[in-house]
Amino acid sequence: MKKAILFSLMTLSLFAREFFGKVPLVEKATIVHNSGSLLNSPELLHNILHYQTWGELFVYLQVHWFRILFFGITLGVLIVFFLHYIIIGPKKFSKDGKSFYVYSVFKRIIHWVAALAFVIIIPTGFMMIFGKEFGGGELVLTARYLHSIGTVIFIVSIIPMFLMWLIPMLPTFDDIKWIFIAGGYLTKKKVVVPAGEFNAGQKLWFWIAVLGGFVLIVSGAIMYFEDFDLTILRSLNMDQIDLLRVAAIVHNFLGMAVTALFITHLYMSLFAIKGSLGSMKNGYKHEDEVKYMHSSFYKKLTEKQAK
Ligand code: HEM
Repeated sequence: MKKAILFSLMTLSLFAREFFGKVPLVEKATIVHNSGSLLNSPELLHNILHYQTWGELFVYLQVHWFRILFFGITLGVLIVFFLHYIIIGPKKFSKDGKSFYVYSVFKRIIHWVAALAFVIIIPTGFMMIFGKEFGGGELVLTARYLHSIGTVIFIVSIIPMFLMWLIPMLPTFDDIKWIFIAGGYLTKKKVVVPAGEFNAGQKLWFWIAVLGGFVLIVSGAIMYFEDFDLTILRSLNMDQIDLLRVAAIVHNFLGMAVTALFITHLYMSLFAIKGSLGSMKNGYKHEDEVKYMHSSFYKKLTEKQAK
């Protein structure tokens, strides 16, 4: 009996398609109308089909570029640093002499919270980009949840990190000189490097991590929560789904930049300068390292001590 009813319904729907031309892809009866929602409405269909601007660009980048760029940039950065380590090698500084207390307990805690966040966010981001290679399904879905948890941890650290390092991260003339000698990283010799408490490379990482991190949080939230009915979109002649497409494009490109700089940060802090991790554990930096790598800061510290 059930089979007969089912068969009749299917036949009827086929007849309906033939007679009335089109059968709606989304049954009106199944649509949940949230007030203000454009995603749970028939407009979704219109928006998906009406995709010439952002839709076309998003599909093009998603199909042809994002995966290859992520893979290429990551591999490229890893190869460059591997070669740097082999050809030039790490800088070694004497552990004798004075030490300067440069990272307070608060700064170190905030830093490690951000580090924990990134250690979760970056591999899970990769798992989503290369979802097919990871077999999709539950594993990639779990990666998506972990990616969101990592983001919440990052949100906790981003404002205090911004405030605690804002002033020393502002640009100075030392930064221009630092860029001209590539921070002294292209020579095996120990050279006196023009830099204050932080050098130009560290500043670049800070600004990309904090400001880029903020944009990543916002674009990620747009993709996670999906349903925004913003009047500003209409004034920009954008649909709700366009916002998702733009968020995905921005998130992917910024994600690549942050990933490349995060790998750079890890290389610099774990390999390029021997024992640099110590300062993030106990707060102290040895005199020899500060004298060479942060010469302006060293001058300031010694002048202060002499008074
Ligand atoms: C496992 C992950 C991480 C490790 C092992 C690590 C390690 C370090 C180390 C050793 C330093 C001190 C470098 C020095 O002063 O010579 C440092 C500094 C710093 N870290 Fe991290 N870090 C990690 C993740 C992060 C993340 C996720 C952020 C930002 C979101 C971050 C931002 C900074 C900043 C702004 C500084 C000061 C400037 C600099 O040295 O680059 N770090 N990190």
